[in-house]
Amino acid sequence: MPLIEAENISKSYLGMLPVLENSSFRIESGEFFYLTGVSGAGKTTVFKLLMLMERPDTGRVSFDGQDITLLETRNRSLHRRRIGMVFQDYRLLDNETIEENVAIPLRVGGHRGPGLRRQTENLLEQVGLADRRREKVLGLSGGEKQLVSIARALSFNPGVFFADEPTGNLDQSMAFRVMDLIKEIHRKGATVIVATHDLNLIRTFRARTLLIKDRRIHEVRLADSQPSL
Ligand SMILES: Nc1ncnc2c1ncn2[C@@H]1O[C@H](COP(=O)(O)OP(=O)(O)OP(=O)(O)O)[C@@H](O)[C@H]1O
Ligand SMILES: [Mg+2]
Repeated sequence: MPLIEAENISKSYLGMLPVLENSSFRIESGEFFYLTGVSGAGKTTVFKLLMLMERPDTGRVSFDGQDITLLETRNRSLHRRRIGMVFQDYRLLDNETIEENVAIPLRVGGHRGPGLRRQTENLLEQVGLADRRREKVLGLSGGEKQLVSIARALSFNPGVFFADEPTGNLDQSMAFRVMDLIKEIHRKGATVIVATHDLNLIRTFRARTLLIKDRRIHEVRLADSQPSL
C-alpha cells in the first residue's frame, strides 16, 4: 500500500480556473520525490492538500490507506504532526529568537522546562545553529532562516518531510548545505517531497520527479533531459 496516494483530485480556488483536474499520484514509504512545474502550476497547493490546509473539490487523498479528507478536527492536527513542513515563505516569527521559533511547536505539543530546552538544542545542532540560538530571526539570511525552518519541521521526528522550494533564493553553497540536510533526513528513514522549479537542482541531486503540467501530475524523467518544464 502506498504511504501517500492522491486519486483523481481536482482543486480550484474560488473564481479561478482549476489548478488540478483529475490528478493522481502515489508515493511509497521511504521514497524521495521532487515535485516540479512552472510557477503557479500548483506545487504549494499539492502540499496544502496533503497537509489538509486545503480540501480537494473532488477525489481522495490518503495516507496509509486512510482518506484524510474525512478526518475530524482533532485527528487533523495529529495528521499534521507526522509531517514536517518547510514553507516557501518560512513562516517564522521575526522578532523571536531562533531557539523560540524552534520551540513553539514542541511547546504547543505540551513540552516544558529542561526537556524542551534539550530537544530544541538537539534540533538546532542538527542544522548547525545551536551556538546562535539566542539571535533573533530578523537578522538572519534567507539560508539561515531556511535552516531554522528545517529544524522546526523536525520537531516531532516526522516520518514525512515536505520542503517547498527550499533552495529558492540561496547561493550554491547554502543550497548544497540545505539539500545535504534534506538527504540526511531521507537517509534516516523519512519519506521526502521537495518542491522546486530548479532543474539544475534535480540534475545535481537526482531523484524521482513528479511534474505538474496542464493541471495534471505525471512522473517524468527530468534528471537526464534538457531543461524545460
Ligand atoms: N488561496 C488562494 N486563492 C486563490 N488562488 C490561489 C490561492 N493559492 C494559490 N492560488 C492560485 O493557484 C495557482 C497555483 O498556486 P501555487 O501556489 O500552488 O503554485 P506553485 O506551483 O507553488 O507556484 P510557485 O512556484 O510560484 O511557488 C496559482 O495560479 C495561484 O495564483
Ligand atoms: Mg509555491
